[in-house]
Amino acid sequence: MRSQLLSAVTLIGASVVEGYTYTRLNKTDAALLVVDHQLGLSTLVRDIEPVAYRQNILGHAALGNLFSLPTILTTSAETGPNGALPQDIVKMHPTAPFIKRNGEVNAWDNSEFKAAVKATGKSQIIIAGIVTDVCTSFLAQSLRAEGYEVWANTEASGTFDNKIAFDANRAMENAGVHLMGLFGITMDLMRDWRATPGSLEVLPFLDTYLVPYSLIARSHGYAVDNGTLAPGEAQILV
Ligand SMILES: *[C@@H]1O[C@H](CO)[C@@H](O)[C@H](O)[C@H]1NC(C)=O
Ligand SMILES: *[C@@H]1O[C@H](CO)[C@@H](O)[C@H](O)[C@H]1NC(C)=O
Repeated sequence: MRSQLLSAVTLIGASVVEGYTYTRLNKTDAALLVVDHQLGLSTLVRDIEPVAYRQNILGHAALGNLFSLPTILTTSAETGPNGALPQDIVKMHPTAPFIKRNGEVNAWDNSEFKAAVKATGKSQIIIAGIVTDVCTSFLAQSLRAEGYEVWANTEASGTFDNKIAFDANRAMENAGVHLMGLFGITMDLMRDWRATPGSLEVLPFLDTYLVPYSLIARSHGYAVDNGTLAPGEAQILV
């Protein structure tokens, strides 16, 4: 009994010593990749409904300007069925490198794209693409193999169905890719509501791209600005 207890204690001790390295996004180390968010490819996305999906890819692209991240746009064979990148995204990043790949499926196979990523000098890469199991997953794994820390924005990557998304996300996770949604990525880049960008810059961003947060901020804002407690509200607050 006593020796069982001791070995349990030893095991707990060992796992504490082994520890866990929590790798966090740092806006000074990060670059943003917008991968193949093309109009034709968007019609393949069936695991996220279209209205939300469009908002999610716009939000992903807007992270670059919000946090002053070097941003790279790329498309795959855009004169064919894959289609053009939405002008909303192109206009957000008028001076960003925009690499139009003529054939390479994995953007990492394109030397101009690879050079643009390396030229950012950043070690942390935030990516999203269509489709999750090809454009996002292939590139994410190539970046991991090259030594980058990678965050895949799972809300701005879409594919045919939930099963394919699950398999692709598992493949990325096995490669050490961090899977996160827009709110998680935004919060980890911001770190503190008092930072710059902080509440002043991030709330208008969330108002546009993350409707649930917009509802919190607007309802609180209106209430503080010109609200009075309705009968019954004072009672439920105590
Ligand atoms: C980000 O990294 C820089 C150095 O690369 C460091 O000075 C800074 O404290 C880090 N920021 C956060 C929020 O960890
Ligand atoms: C505040 O609310 C009252 C009552 O609804 C309204 O009459 C008034 O115009 C509002 N003021 C502002 C500044 O919105």
